[in-house]
Amino acid sequence: MQNFDYQTPTRLIFGKGAIAKLPQVMSTFGKRILLTYGGGSIKKIGLYQQVQDLLKDFEIIELSGIQPNPKYNPSVLDGVRLCKEHKIDVILSVGGGSVLDCSKAIAAGACYNGDPWDLISYKVKAQAALPIVDIITLAATGSEYDCGGVISRTETNDKIGYMDRHLFPHTSFLDPTYTFSVSKKQTAAGIADAMNHTIEQYFAEDTTLLNDGFCESMLRSLMVNGRKCLDNPEDYTARAEMMLACTYGCNGILSLGNSESGWPCHGIEHALSAYYDITHGEGLAIITPRWMTHILDEHTLPRFVKYGINVFGIDASLDEWTIARKAIDETYKFFESIGIPMHLREVGIDDSRLDEMAHHIAVNEGLENAYAPLSEKDIKDILVNSL
Ligand code: NZQ
Ligand code: ZN
Repeated sequence: MQNFDYQTPTRLIFGKGAIAKLPQVMSTFGKRILLTYGGGSIKKIGLYQQVQDLLKDFEIIELSGIQPNPKYNPSVLDGVRLCKEHKIDVILSVGGGSVLDCSKAIAAGACYNGDPWDLISYKVKAQAALPIVDIITLAATGSEYDCGGVISRTETNDKIGYMDRHLFPHTSFLDPTYTFSVSKKQTAAGIADAMNHTIEQYFAEDTTLLNDGFCESMLRSLMVNGRKCLDNPEDYTARAEMMLACTYGCNGILSLGNSESGWPCHGIEHALSAYYDITHGEGLAIITPRWMTHILDEHTLPRFVKYGINVFGIDASLDEWTIARKAIDETYKFFESIGIPMHLREVGIDDSRLDEMAHHIAVNEGLENAYAPLSEKDIKDILVNSL
Protein backbone atom coordinates (compact mmCIF):
# COMPACT_ATOMS: atom_id res chain seq x y z
CA MET A 1 0.00 0.00 0.00
CA GLN A 2 1.22 3.49 -0.88
CA ASN A 3 1.67 6.28 1.69
CA PHE A 4 -0.89 9.07 1.66
CA ASP A 5 -1.75 12.36 3.34
CA TYR A 6 -5.49 12.89 3.15
CA GLN A 7 -8.02 15.40 4.42
CA THR A 8 -11.50 16.32 3.24
CA PRO A 9 -12.66 19.17 5.45
CA THR A 10 -16.10 19.61 3.83
CA ARG A 11 -19.20 19.35 6.01
CA LEU A 12 -21.99 17.38 4.31
CA ILE A 13 -25.59 18.16 5.27
CA PHE A 14 -27.67 15.50 3.59
CA GLY A 15 -31.36 14.79 3.14
CA LYS A 16 -34.80 16.19 2.52
CA GLY A 17 -35.13 19.64 4.09
CA ALA A 18 -31.37 19.97 4.75
CA ILE A 19 -31.53 23.56 3.52
CA ALA A 20 -33.13 24.67 6.81
CA LYS A 21 -29.60 24.95 8.19
CA LEU A 22 -28.51 27.34 5.44
CA PRO A 23 -28.88 30.64 7.37
CA GLN A 24 -26.96 29.25 10.33
CA VAL A 25 -24.12 28.03 8.10
CA MET A 26 -23.96 31.27 6.09
CA SER A 27 -23.93 33.45 9.20
CA THR A 28 -20.49 32.15 10.13
CA PHE A 29 -18.92 34.10 7.26
CA GLY A 30 -20.46 37.58 7.16
CA LYS A 31 -23.31 39.33 5.39
CA ARG A 32 -22.23 39.64 1.77
CA ILE A 33 -22.89 36.63 -0.41
CA LEU A 34 -22.13 36.00 -4.07
CA LEU A 35 -24.95 33.71 -5.21
CA THR A 36 -23.87 31.76 -8.31
CA TYR A 37 -26.16 29.72 -10.53
CA GLY A 38 -26.67 28.47 -14.06
CA GLY A 39 -29.31 28.89 -16.74
CA GLY A 40 -32.43 28.86 -14.61
CA SER A 41 -33.14 25.29 -13.43
CA ILE A 42 -33.01 26.46 -9.81
CA LYS A 43 -35.80 28.94 -10.52
CA LYS A 44 -37.96 26.27 -12.13
CA ILE A 45 -37.72 23.99 -9.08
CA GLY A 46 -38.38 26.81 -6.60
CA LEU A 47 -34.96 26.58 -5.02
CA TYR A 48 -33.93 30.11 -5.98
CA GLN A 49 -36.91 31.56 -4.09
CA GLN A 50 -36.31 29.27 -1.13
CA VAL A 51 -32.73 30.52 -0.88
CA GLN A 52 -33.84 34.15 -1.16
CA ASP A 53 -36.41 33.65 1.62
CA LEU A 54 -33.97 31.90 3.95
CA LEU A 55 -31.28 34.52 3.36
CA LYS A 56 -33.44 37.65 3.51
CA ASP A 57 -31.19 39.16 6.19
CA PHE A 58 -28.09 38.88 3.97
CA GLU A 59 -26.86 41.09 1.14
CA ILE A 60 -26.93 38.99 -2.01
CA ILE A 61 -25.08 39.76 -5.23
CA GLU A 62 -25.81 37.41 -8.14
CA LEU A 63 -23.81 35.81 -10.90
CA SER A 64 -26.13 33.82 -13.16
CA GLY A 65 -25.83 32.13 -16.55
CA ILE A 66 -22.90 29.87 -15.70
CA GLN A 67 -22.85 27.32 -18.51
CA PRO A 68 -22.10 23.60 -18.51
CA ASN A 69 -18.34 23.21 -19.04
CA PRO A 70 -18.00 26.58 -17.26
CA LYS A 71 -16.11 29.23 -19.12
CA TYR A 72 -13.24 31.30 -17.83
CA ASN A 73 -14.47 34.20 -19.91
CA PRO A 74 -16.94 35.58 -18.97
CA SER A 75 -18.09 33.59 -15.91
CA VAL A 76 -14.91 33.25 -13.82
CA LEU A 77 -13.75 36.76 -14.68
CA ASP A 78 -17.15 38.30 -13.94
CA GLY A 79 -17.37 36.46 -10.65
CA VAL A 80 -13.93 37.58 -9.52
CA ARG A 81 -14.78 41.18 -10.42
CA LEU A 82 -18.06 41.02 -8.45
CA CYS A 83 -16.32 39.56 -5.40
CA LYS A 84 -13.75 42.34 -5.39
CA GLU A 85 -16.23 45.16 -6.11
CA HIS A 86 -18.68 44.06 -3.42
CA LYS A 87 -16.18 42.77 -0.87
CA ILE A 88 -17.91 39.41 -0.83
CA ASP A 89 -17.56 37.28 2.33
CA VAL A 90 -18.70 33.92 0.98
CA ILE A 91 -19.80 32.30 -2.27
CA LEU A 92 -23.02 30.29 -2.37
CA SER A 93 -23.14 27.99 -5.40
CA VAL A 94 -26.60 26.65 -6.25
CA GLY A 95 -26.69 24.22 -9.17
CA GLY A 96 -24.73 21.41 -10.77
CA GLY A 97 -21.02 20.72 -10.91
CA SER A 98 -20.39 23.43 -13.48
CA VAL A 99 -21.72 26.19 -11.23
CA LEU A 100 -19.71 24.85 -8.31
CA ASP A 101 -16.50 24.44 -10.33
CA CYS A 102 -16.81 27.98 -11.61
CA SER A 103 -17.43 29.18 -8.05
CA LYS A 104 -14.26 27.50 -6.88
CA ALA A 105 -12.16 29.28 -9.50
CA ILE A 106 -13.86 32.55 -8.56
CA ALA A 107 -13.13 31.92 -4.87
CA ALA A 108 -9.42 31.58 -5.59
CA GLY A 109 -9.32 34.44 -8.12
CA ALA A 110 -11.01 36.79 -5.65
CA CYS A 111 -8.06 36.45 -3.28
CA TYR A 112 -5.41 36.98 -5.97
CA ASN A 113 -4.24 40.23 -7.50
CA GLY A 114 -3.17 38.99 -10.91
CA ASP A 115 -4.92 37.23 -13.78
CA PRO A 116 -6.92 34.30 -12.30
CA TRP A 117 -5.70 32.11 -15.18
CA ASP A 118 -2.29 32.12 -13.46
CA LEU A 119 -3.92 30.04 -10.71
CA ILE A 120 -5.99 27.73 -12.90
CA SER A 121 -3.00 26.99 -15.12
CA TYR A 122 -0.81 26.32 -12.05
CA LYS A 123 1.58 29.15 -12.85
CA VAL A 124 0.94 30.58 -9.39
CA LYS A 125 -0.16 28.69 -6.27
CA ALA A 126 -3.21 30.12 -4.50
CA GLN A 127 -2.49 31.44 -1.03
CA ALA A 128 -6.15 31.74 -0.05
CA ALA A 129 -9.69 31.50 -1.38
CA LEU A 130 -13.07 32.81 -0.31
CA PRO A 131 -15.17 30.25 1.58
CA ILE A 132 -17.60 28.29 -0.61
CA VAL A 133 -20.94 26.81 0.38
CA ASP A 134 -22.95 24.86 -2.14
CA ILE A 135 -26.37 23.40 -2.71
CA ILE A 136 -25.76 20.73 -5.32
CA THR A 137 -28.71 19.99 -7.62
CA LEU A 138 -27.27 17.31 -9.90
CA ALA A 139 -25.66 14.04 -8.84
CA ALA A 140 -22.56 13.50 -10.94
CA THR A 141 -19.23 15.17 -10.43
CA GLY A 142 -18.57 14.92 -6.70
CA SER A 143 -17.40 18.52 -6.82
CA GLU A 144 -19.36 19.04 -3.59
CA TYR A 145 -16.80 16.90 -1.75
CA ASP A 146 -13.55 17.64 -3.55
CA CYS A 147 -11.09 20.46 -4.09
CA GLY A 148 -11.24 20.51 -7.89
CA GLY A 149 -12.89 22.74 -10.43
CA VAL A 150 -12.78 22.16 -14.17
CA ILE A 151 -12.61 25.35 -16.22
CA SER A 152 -12.74 25.80 -20.00
CA ARG A 153 -11.00 28.50 -21.96
CA THR A 154 -12.59 28.56 -25.38
CA GLU A 155 -9.96 30.47 -27.34
CA THR A 156 -7.18 27.98 -26.47
CA ASN A 157 -9.31 24.79 -26.33
CA ASP A 158 -8.12 24.28 -22.78
CA LYS A 159 -10.19 22.49 -20.18
CA ILE A 160 -8.18 22.31 -17.00
CA GLY A 161 -8.91 20.40 -13.83
CA TYR A 162 -7.78 22.96 -11.27
CA MET A 163 -7.13 21.41 -7.85
CA ASP A 164 -6.09 23.18 -4.70
CA ARG A 165 -6.78 22.39 -1.06
CA HIS A 166 -8.26 25.90 -0.58
CA LEU A 167 -11.11 24.92 -2.92
CA PHE A 168 -12.89 22.36 -0.75
CA PRO A 169 -16.41 23.62 -0.10
CA HIS A 170 -16.85 24.59 3.53
CA THR A 171 -20.31 23.00 3.55
CA SER A 172 -22.29 21.11 0.92
CA PHE A 173 -26.05 20.76 1.14
CA LEU A 174 -27.30 17.59 -0.53
CA ASP A 175 -31.06 17.26 -0.80
CA PRO A 176 -31.95 14.45 -3.22
CA THR A 177 -35.37 16.01 -3.93
CA TYR A 178 -33.61 18.81 -5.84
CA THR A 179 -32.43 16.18 -8.33
CA PHE A 180 -35.98 14.95 -9.16
CA SER A 181 -36.12 17.46 -12.04
CA VAL A 182 -32.81 16.46 -13.64
CA SER A 183 -33.47 15.34 -17.23
CA LYS A 184 -32.93 11.75 -18.35
CA LYS A 185 -29.97 12.90 -20.44
CA GLN A 186 -28.23 14.57 -17.49
CA THR A 187 -29.16 11.78 -15.08
CA ALA A 188 -27.58 9.23 -17.42
CA ALA A 189 -24.53 11.44 -17.90
CA GLY A 190 -24.22 11.73 -14.11
CA ILE A 191 -24.34 7.94 -13.70
CA ALA A 192 -21.62 7.56 -16.35
CA ASP A 193 -19.47 10.28 -14.79
CA ALA A 194 -19.55 8.76 -11.30
CA MET A 195 -19.03 5.25 -12.70
CA ASN A 196 -16.02 6.46 -14.61
CA HIS A 197 -14.61 8.22 -11.53
CA THR A 198 -14.74 4.83 -9.87
CA ILE A 199 -13.27 2.96 -12.83
CA GLU A 200 -10.42 5.47 -13.05
CA GLN A 201 -9.48 4.54 -9.49
CA TYR A 202 -10.14 0.80 -9.77
CA PHE A 203 -7.83 0.29 -12.73
CA ALA A 204 -4.53 0.96 -10.99
CA GLU A 205 -1.35 -1.03 -10.47
CA ASP A 206 -1.39 -1.25 -6.72
CA THR A 207 -4.84 -1.62 -5.12
CA THR A 208 -6.28 -3.17 -1.95
CA LEU A 209 -9.07 -5.59 -1.24
CA LEU A 210 -10.71 -2.80 0.73
CA ASN A 211 -10.66 -0.27 -2.12
CA ASP A 212 -11.58 -2.83 -4.74
CA GLY A 213 -14.66 -3.76 -2.73
CA PHE A 214 -15.61 -0.12 -2.23
CA CYS A 215 -15.30 0.54 -5.98
CA GLU A 216 -17.19 -2.60 -6.99
CA SER A 217 -20.00 -1.69 -4.61
CA MET A 218 -20.06 1.89 -5.97
CA LEU A 219 -20.42 0.59 -9.52
CA ARG A 220 -23.21 -1.85 -8.66
CA SER A 221 -25.05 0.80 -6.65
CA LEU A 222 -24.75 3.37 -9.44
CA MET A 223 -26.08 0.96 -12.03
CA VAL A 224 -29.02 -0.27 -9.91
CA ASN A 225 -30.04 3.10 -8.50
CA GLY A 226 -29.22 5.01 -11.65
CA ARG A 227 -31.63 2.87 -13.59
CA LYS A 228 -34.30 3.40 -10.92
CA CYS A 229 -33.80 7.18 -11.15
CA LEU A 230 -34.35 7.00 -14.90
CA ASP A 231 -37.46 4.84 -14.54
CA ASN A 232 -38.94 6.94 -11.76
CA PRO A 233 -37.27 10.36 -11.40
CA GLU A 234 -39.00 10.96 -8.06
CA ASP A 235 -37.81 7.76 -6.37
CA TYR A 236 -36.30 9.39 -3.28
CA THR A 237 -34.36 6.35 -2.10
CA ALA A 238 -32.72 5.81 -5.47
CA ARG A 239 -31.94 9.50 -5.98
CA ALA A 240 -30.49 9.63 -2.46
CA GLU A 241 -28.19 6.65 -2.90
CA MET A 242 -27.09 7.86 -6.31
CA MET A 243 -26.34 11.29 -4.85
CA LEU A 244 -24.19 9.88 -2.09
CA ALA A 245 -22.35 7.56 -4.48
CA CYS A 246 -21.57 10.50 -6.74
CA THR A 247 -20.32 12.46 -3.76
CA TYR A 248 -17.84 9.70 -2.94
CA GLY A 249 -16.64 9.47 -6.53
CA CYS A 250 -14.06 12.15 -6.93
CA ASN A 251 -12.29 13.04 -3.70
CA GLY A 252 -9.89 10.13 -3.63
CA ILE A 253 -11.54 8.20 -0.82
CA LEU A 254 -12.02 5.18 -3.11
CA SER A 255 -8.31 4.85 -3.75
CA LEU A 256 -6.46 5.79 -0.56
CA GLY A 257 -3.22 3.82 -0.61
CA ASN A 258 -3.58 2.84 -4.28
CA SER A 259 -0.96 3.83 -6.82
CA GLU A 260 -1.85 6.65 -9.21
CA SER A 261 -3.91 5.64 -12.21
CA GLY A 262 -3.53 8.85 -14.19
CA TRP A 263 -7.32 9.15 -14.83
CA PRO A 264 -6.86 8.51 -18.58
CA CYS A 265 -10.52 8.64 -19.66
CA HIS A 266 -10.84 12.06 -18.04
CA GLY A 267 -7.65 13.24 -19.74
CA ILE A 268 -9.15 12.29 -23.09
CA GLU A 269 -12.70 13.48 -22.40
CA HIS A 270 -11.65 16.91 -21.20
CA ALA A 271 -10.26 17.58 -24.68
CA LEU A 272 -13.50 16.41 -26.29
CA SER A 273 -15.59 18.80 -24.22
CA ALA A 274 -13.02 21.59 -24.61
CA TYR A 275 -13.07 21.34 -28.41
CA TYR A 276 -16.75 20.47 -28.90
CA ASP A 277 -18.52 21.53 -25.66
CA ILE A 278 -20.16 18.11 -25.26
CA THR A 279 -21.67 16.74 -22.03
CA HIS A 280 -18.83 15.41 -19.88
CA GLY A 281 -20.54 12.16 -18.77
CA GLU A 282 -21.52 11.28 -22.34
CA GLY A 283 -17.96 11.77 -23.54
CA LEU A 284 -16.72 9.49 -20.76
CA ALA A 285 -19.25 6.77 -21.56
CA ILE A 286 -18.11 6.78 -25.19
CA ILE A 287 -14.40 6.68 -24.35
CA THR A 288 -14.46 4.18 -21.45
CA PRO A 289 -15.16 0.88 -23.28
CA ARG A 290 -12.82 1.86 -26.15
CA TRP A 291 -10.07 2.67 -23.67
CA MET A 292 -10.71 -0.67 -21.93
CA THR A 293 -10.45 -2.59 -25.19
CA HIS A 294 -7.26 -0.72 -26.05
CA ILE A 295 -5.47 -1.49 -22.78
CA LEU A 296 -6.58 -5.12 -22.36
CA ASP A 297 -3.43 -7.27 -22.46
CA GLU A 298 -1.69 -9.99 -20.41
CA HIS A 299 -0.76 -7.44 -17.77
CA THR A 300 -4.16 -5.79 -17.28
CA LEU A 301 -6.15 -9.02 -17.74
CA PRO A 302 -6.50 -9.89 -14.00
CA ARG A 303 -8.06 -6.49 -13.27
CA PHE A 304 -10.64 -6.96 -15.99
CA VAL A 305 -11.41 -10.46 -14.74
CA LYS A 306 -12.02 -9.20 -11.20
CA TYR A 307 -14.11 -6.31 -12.54
CA GLY A 308 -16.20 -8.65 -14.70
CA ILE A 309 -16.90 -11.16 -11.95
CA ASN A 310 -17.54 -8.75 -9.07
CA VAL A 311 -19.33 -5.93 -10.89
CA PHE A 312 -21.30 -7.76 -13.56
CA GLY A 313 -21.53 -11.21 -12.01
CA ILE A 314 -19.88 -12.92 -15.01
CA ASP A 315 -19.39 -16.66 -14.53
CA ALA A 316 -15.97 -17.09 -12.89
CA SER A 317 -15.46 -20.51 -14.46
CA LEU A 318 -15.17 -19.03 -17.96
CA ASP A 319 -11.83 -18.50 -19.63
CA GLU A 320 -10.13 -15.28 -18.38
CA TRP A 321 -10.06 -13.57 -21.77
CA THR A 322 -13.73 -14.34 -22.29
CA ILE A 323 -14.57 -12.81 -18.89
CA ALA A 324 -12.53 -9.70 -19.67
CA ARG A 325 -14.12 -9.16 -23.09
CA LYS A 326 -17.59 -9.77 -21.68
CA ALA A 327 -16.89 -7.22 -18.93
CA ILE A 328 -16.03 -4.57 -21.50
CA ASP A 329 -19.09 -5.49 -23.51
CA GLU A 330 -21.31 -5.24 -20.41
CA THR A 331 -19.87 -1.79 -19.68
CA TYR A 332 -20.74 -0.63 -23.18
CA LYS A 333 -24.19 -2.19 -23.07
CA PHE A 334 -25.02 -0.60 -19.73
CA PHE A 335 -24.22 2.90 -20.98
CA GLU A 336 -26.15 2.24 -24.17
CA SER A 337 -29.12 0.91 -22.19
CA ILE A 338 -29.46 4.15 -20.22
CA GLY A 339 -29.79 6.13 -23.41
CA ILE A 340 -26.29 7.50 -23.88
CA PRO A 341 -25.20 8.05 -27.50
CA MET A 342 -22.22 5.71 -27.79
CA HIS A 343 -20.39 7.17 -30.80
CA LEU A 344 -18.52 10.46 -31.11
CA ARG A 345 -20.34 11.19 -34.38
CA GLU A 346 -23.66 11.11 -32.48
CA VAL A 347 -22.48 13.99 -30.26
CA GLY A 348 -21.22 16.03 -33.19
CA ILE A 349 -17.57 14.98 -33.33
CA ASP A 350 -16.16 13.81 -36.66
CA ASP A 351 -12.62 12.83 -37.62
CA SER A 352 -11.50 16.31 -38.69
CA ARG A 353 -9.73 17.29 -35.46
CA LEU A 354 -8.72 13.93 -33.98
CA ASP A 355 -5.00 14.46 -34.70
CA GLU A 356 -5.08 17.88 -33.11
CA MET A 357 -6.94 16.60 -30.05
CA ALA A 358 -4.69 13.56 -29.64
CA HIS A 359 -1.67 15.86 -29.74
CA HIS A 360 -3.25 18.28 -27.25
CA ILE A 361 -4.04 15.41 -24.85
CA ALA A 362 -0.58 13.84 -25.19
CA VAL A 363 1.12 17.17 -24.46
CA ASN A 364 -1.13 18.29 -21.61
CA GLU A 365 -2.44 15.23 -19.75
CA GLY A 366 0.66 13.20 -18.93
CA LEU A 367 -0.98 9.90 -19.92
CA GLU A 368 2.37 8.29 -20.64
CA ASN A 369 2.41 7.77 -16.85
CA ALA A 370 -1.09 6.29 -16.61
CA TYR A 371 -1.84 2.79 -15.28
CA ALA A 372 -1.62 1.58 -18.88
CA PRO A 373 0.65 4.21 -20.47
CA LEU A 374 -0.84 5.99 -23.49
CA SER A 375 1.21 7.57 -26.26
CA GLU A 376 -0.18 10.09 -28.74
CA LYS A 377 -0.78 7.21 -31.15
CA ASP A 378 -2.65 5.21 -28.49
CA ILE A 379 -4.86 8.23 -27.79
CA LYS A 380 -5.55 8.72 -31.49
CA ASP A 381 -6.47 5.03 -31.85
CA ILE A 382 -8.91 5.27 -28.94
CA LEU A 383 -10.49 8.35 -30.51
CA VAL A 384 -10.76 6.71 -33.94
CA ASN A 385 -12.35 3.62 -32.38
CA SER A 386 -14.85 5.88 -30.59
CA LEU A 387 -16.12 7.50 -33.79
O1 NZQ B 1 -27.72 25.70 -15.93
P1 NZQ B 1 -28.94 25.14 -15.31
O2 NZQ B 1 -30.19 25.80 -15.73
O3 NZQ B 1 -28.83 25.00 -13.81
O4 NZQ B 1 -29.12 23.63 -15.91
C1 NZQ B 1 -28.19 22.60 -15.70
C2 NZQ B 1 -27.35 22.29 -16.93
O5 NZQ B 1 -28.02 22.64 -18.10
C3 NZQ B 1 -28.96 21.31 -15.50
N1 NZQ B 1 -29.37 21.08 -14.11
C4 NZQ B 1 -28.62 21.11 -12.99
N2 NZQ B 1 -29.38 20.80 -11.92
C5 NZQ B 1 -30.64 20.58 -12.38
C6 NZQ B 1 -30.63 20.75 -13.77
N3 NZQ B 1 -31.74 20.62 -14.52
C7 NZQ B 1 -32.88 20.29 -13.89
N4 NZQ B 1 -32.95 20.09 -12.55
C8 NZQ B 1 -31.86 20.22 -11.78
N5 NZQ B 1 -31.94 19.98 -10.45
O6 NZQ B 1 -28.08 20.29 -15.91
C9 NZQ B 1 -27.23 20.79 -16.93
C10 NZQ B 1 -25.81 20.31 -16.69
O7 NZQ B 1 -25.30 20.88 -15.50
P2 NZQ B 1 -23.74 20.77 -15.13
O8 NZQ B 1 -23.53 21.49 -13.88
O9 NZQ B 1 -22.92 21.14 -16.32
O10 NZQ B 1 -23.57 19.17 -14.93
P3 NZQ B 1 -22.55 18.39 -14.02
O11 NZQ B 1 -22.91 18.49 -12.60
O12 NZQ B 1 -22.48 17.05 -14.61
O13 NZQ B 1 -21.15 19.15 -14.21
C11 NZQ B 1 -20.34 18.93 -15.34
C12 NZQ B 1 -19.05 19.70 -15.22
O14 NZQ B 1 -18.26 19.26 -14.11
C13 NZQ B 1 -16.93 18.92 -14.56
C14 NZQ B 1 -17.18 18.48 -15.98
O15 NZQ B 1 -16.01 18.44 -16.72
C15 NZQ B 1 -18.17 19.51 -16.45
O16 NZQ B 1 -17.52 20.72 -16.79
N6 NZQ B 1 -16.34 17.96 -13.63
C16 NZQ B 1 -16.02 18.38 -12.39
C17 NZQ B 1 -15.39 17.57 -11.48
C18 NZQ B 1 -15.00 18.03 -10.14
N7 NZQ B 1 -15.13 19.28 -9.79
O17 NZQ B 1 -14.53 17.28 -9.33
C19 NZQ B 1 -15.03 16.20 -11.79
C20 NZQ B 1 -15.69 15.68 -13.01
O18 NZQ B 1 -14.91 14.63 -13.52
C21 NZQ B 1 -15.94 16.66 -14.10
O19 NZQ B 1 -14.81 16.80 -14.95
ZN1 ZN C 1 -15.88 13.22 -14.39
